[in-house]
Amino acid sequence: LPGSEVIVVSNREPYIHNRKDDGTIQVQRPASGLVSALEPVTRACGGTWIAHGSGSADRDSVDADDRVGVPPAKPTYTLRRLWLTDEEQDGYYYGFANEGLWPLCHIAFVRPIFRESDWRFYRSVNEKFAEAVVAEAKRPDPIVLIQDYHLALAPRMIRDRLPNATIITFWHIPWPNSETFGICPWKEEIIDGLLGSSILGFHTQFHCNNFIETVDRFMESRIDRESDSISLAGHETFVRPYPISIDWPPAALEGQAPVPETRTTVRERLGLSPDIKLGVGIERFDYTKGILDRMRGVDAFLTEYPDWKGRFCFAQVAAPTRAKLASYRNLQAEAEALADEINARHGADGWEPIKLLARHHEPDEVFELFRAADLCIVSSLHDGMNLVAKEFVASRDDEQGVLVLSAFAGASRELSEALIVNPYDAYAMGQVIHRALAMDSGEQRERMKVMREQVEAKNVYRWAGQMLLDAARLRKKERIMRL
Ligand code: G6P
Repeated sequence: LPGSEVIVVSNREPYIHNRKDDGTIQVQRPASGLVSALEPVTRACGGTWIAHGSGSADRDSVDADDRVGVPPAKPTYTLRRLWLTDEEQDGYYYGFANEGLWPLCHIAFVRPIFRESDWRFYRSVNEKFAEAVVAEAKRPDPIVLIQDYHLALAPRMIRDRLPNATIITFWHIPWPNSETFGICPWKEEIIDGLLGSSILGFHTQFHCNNFIETVDRFMESRIDRESDSISLAGHETFVRPYPISIDWPPAALEGQAPVPETRTTVRERLGLSPDIKLGVGIERFDYTKGILDRMRGVDAFLTEYPDWKGRFCFAQVAAPTRAKLASYRNLQAEAEALADEINARHGADGWEPIKLLARHHEPDEVFELFRAADLCIVSSLHDGMNLVAKEFVASRDDEQGVLVLSAFAGASRELSEALIVNPYDAYAMGQVIHRALAMDSGEQRERMKVMREQVEAKNVYRWAGQMLLDAARLRKKERIMRL
């Protein structure tokens, strides 16, 4: 869209400046699927990204207008930081977004909590983001890309102030069925907020359908099932599936050592014998990811196939996240206890089946682990897309390695050559781990090749391109209508 102004808006920022103990500043890339996907696109397009400044040295790294050029090494776009008080973060981010909407939309059997006080902060912080967009906009018709469940009210608030803006909102998590969404006490306001968008995107048609059903059930609007559009108070929103993806070739692949070398160095670092088979799982410590369930899978595998004892290790990287919330802290404690229990049950002679690495890993470290592994397990209990699965595939330019993938992650629709599993079924998980370890190199190559072609063809530039193309069509149509 030449000549257009692009503004990206999300809660999580793409670069976090943190003050280290020795006083120096370190730039961190957060573990966030949203950031992994949007960052390369914004880097390529330029423009402004508005996000919450969450790092301990974020304020020291911006200019007087709260802006900083990024990527730090070679800036191509502006990160405009927005500051939130502790109270705002508690109500809007920890409270409404992560104790309310997150468990609600993931149907993760963690009871969503809805508090009136959180809702108030959610509303006022959304206002804050909307005002920042208006302040940043140099033209009356910017293209605004709003990201995720933290900002459901912002599209309407921006629409009210910039009626000619093209607002594309992308919902990175699942949208549940209407009965489930009906639990939210402010469902009408959330839906009304989202319907301020020109285009509302989800990962899958299934989530689009759930959203349309929810609108149908709770709102007085007109739904056109031919074009999957919804009209409310004279404004039309198109609801479309755009399966998100990663950059290709991924930046983290640059500078990686050849796979045989990586296999050796990673095993040495983890204190494993050189010929041990390695499984990896890498994510935030989140209860939607099925971390406990895959450990139970490892347990079932070793119970069923004890001859694998001493010959297989599963390394779980889990980056601490949202640790202010009890549900997250409890998960971490539970995972540690479960790993200890399984290690005690099966471990012997200095060998333990599970290694739990509870710390943040930068993208190049993640890729190194992927490349050292024989298999990668993504066992989300429910996930919009899951980009770890796609990153694992992208990391394997040697066309080896087996992906074990949950049937309940959006990615399983695109990566059907993975070994698809139901993470709620520990026995089945154990069987699938066995199947993965027994898979010969030829079959691994065949499966990996097809998945790599899929991720390469449907990379994140295509995801963004498709949305922007739809936006361009819409802008043309609107211009003609105004003639
Ligand atoms: C999911 C959400 C993102 C979020 C990420 C990390 O992928 O869809 O919006 O950024 O998790 O979570 P956090 O709360 O640390 O931003």
